[in-house]
Amino acid sequence: MYLVTGASGHFGQATLAHLLNTLKVPAGNIIAVTRSPEKLAHLKAKGVDVRAGDFNDEAALVTAFKGATRLLLISTDDLTQPGRRQKQHEAAVRAAEKAGVAHVLYTSLQKAESSAVSFAPEHLGTENAIKSAALKGYTLLRNSWYFENLFFGIPQALASGTQYSAAGNGRIAHIARDDLARAAAAALASGQEGRFTYTLTGAAEYTTAEIAALVSKATAKPLAVVQVPLEGLTQGMIAAGVPAPLAAVFASFDDNTAKGGLSGVTGDYKALTGVEPQAFETWLTKNAAALAG
Ligand SMILES: NC(=O)c1ccc[n+]([C@@H]2O[C@H](COP(=O)([O-])OP(=O)(O)OC[C@H]3O[C@@H](n4cnc5c(N)ncnc54)[C@H](OP(=O)(O)O)[C@@H]3O)[C@@H](O)[C@H]2O)c1
Repeated sequence: MYLVTGASGHFGQATLAHLLNTLKVPAGNIIAVTRSPEKLAHLKAKGVDVRAGDFNDEAALVTAFKGATRLLLISTDDLTQPGRRQKQHEAAVRAAEKAGVAHVLYTSLQKAESSAVSFAPEHLGTENAIKSAALKGYTLLRNSWYFENLFFGIPQALASGTQYSAAGNGRIAHIARDDLARAAAAALASGQEGRFTYTLTGAAEYTTAEIAALVSKATAKPLAVVQVPLEGLTQGMIAAGVPAPLAAVFASFDDNTAKGGLSGVTGDYKALTGVEPQAFETWLTKNAAALAG
């Protein structure tokens, strides 16, 4: 039995779709755990076992995880309270142990041990909790940045024609979220026993200026990148109304990129899925109108 947590989120739904449609896993072999079972009525109708579960309620989570052999733990999304996610993830790992799950897979972060992203320690801490848990095996899916992250910032930048960046010439080996979900589904359904770490990137890496040039070409709108110091970027976001703690998180993304935290193309995506990841230019063509707003 394959279990997916966070099943109603973008990544969870895409993973479930790949299990069912790409990998042809029978619906009866899939458990979907979510805080909002009502959002997954369409999967329940197909025969997926949809269960309620919240990482803030460990005891109920043990019941929700019962019967699962392999479990994909999708990282939660609360960026406003540092450290909270790690506690949630640790509760989920303990619940998996107690429920007798054999293998846990986790959506981690590229270069988690050296990343300058402010919440990287939460991913590393979760990896360590999984490594020291009483499980038969684990798979750490160290995901690069989603192409979809461009929706945070690029529409506003296109509106003004200027993108402020502190990422310098750092390269980003980003990848479509749907491809990362496909890789997670493939790893989940592989049945591979043991201890694995995959770094999942796109097929190419780009500087911020190169990304802006491709966005500009796809949307037919001008977009100039202006490099600013990290502190200037943070203050600019705060002046534009972004709460200070969140501005620090976003600024750490550029800091990380400048320091090489998102650089380096790997072949792990193809190794897991057998296919090439979607090219950035192809994704841009499909999403240009939405990015242009
Ligand atoms: N690599 C990247 O570029 C990147 C970008 C954005 C996010 N992420 C990470 O990847 C995760 C999945 O991305 P996404 O696009 O699917 O985000 P999303 O659509 O915002 O989904 C948020 C996820 O968090 C889960 N969640 C939140 N609180 C929870 C709790 N208390 N207990 C259990 N689950 C909880 C949700 O599950 P339910 O609502 O179904 O319970 C859902 O799966 C994010 O949560 C974040 O950690 C990575």
